[in-house]
Amino acid sequence: MKIINELNEKLKDASTLEVIEFFLNEYKNKIALASSLGAEDQVLTDMILKTDKSTKIFTLDTGRLNPETYDVMDATNLKYSVKLDVYFPKLDAVENLYKTQGVNGHFESIDNRKNCCKIRKIEPLKRALNGLDVWFTGLRSSQSITREEMKLVEWDEAFGLIKVNPLINWSEKDVWDYIKSNNVPYNKLHDNGYPSIGCAPCTRAIKDGEDIRAGRWWWENPEHKECGLHKK
Ligand code: ADX
Ligand code: SF4
Repeated sequence: MKIINELNEKLKDASTLEVIEFFLNEYKNKIALASSLGAEDQVLTDMILKTDKSTKIFTLDTGRLNPETYDVMDATNLKYSVKLDVYFPKLDAVENLYKTQGVNGHFESIDNRKNCCKIRKIEPLKRALNGLDVWFTGLRSSQSITREEMKLVEWDEAFGLIKVNPLINWSEKDVWDYIKSNNVPYNKLHDNGYPSIGCAPCTRAIKDGEDIRAGRWWWENPEHKECGLHKK
């Protein structure tokens, strides 16, 4: 798509902060950050709120998040004097999900797992993105084989808007250097072997030497490990 190529070309030498400033200026009130409250999203939250405090930042509260994740939400609201937006799944859909596949049916098949992600993440994400032109994500290309081909600016076919991944070329070390030097609140699970954090039942700690997404949906093959928020 022409506009995507032009944006990638225009921003190819820009710093991360310049990328954020550019989009916040160009798409004011039509742009948001999707934050899982993980380390990458906390970096972006810090940069974005220091640039324009009125920017929409939202979390999809699947109803299955870890207590530590809610602590980061609180700490973030307090530090920046903001209130992050929260989107919940539809009540009747969750009740029906329980009736059809039980409370932990997502372990039983990929279809069940995708169904749970669809109800708890995808439908709320659609509502969160409704009316926007651009969303920021904390995706990095070195996170997984499914993310290697991702670009700074992409057309998000699934949701019909521009997707910007300002940290696409950041390493894990870059993320942590930023967090430490800027005193950014972060999820305490990161200190206990969780580099990547999603829902509590579908995330576990990794062992030394394991891939950073090895603790997400660990019972599935790496090529299946996307929940539908980020289709290729
Ligand atoms: S996931 O697709 O496997 O869950 P991951 O946890 O790596 O994604 O996060 C990648 C990006 O997706 C995050 O940086 C964030 O932009 C978005 N994201 C993931 N989970 C959520 C969530 N619960 N709420 C809002 N955004 C999220
Ligand atoms: Fe359900 Fe697990 Fe997907 Fe969360 S990550 S929505 S609990 S299947």
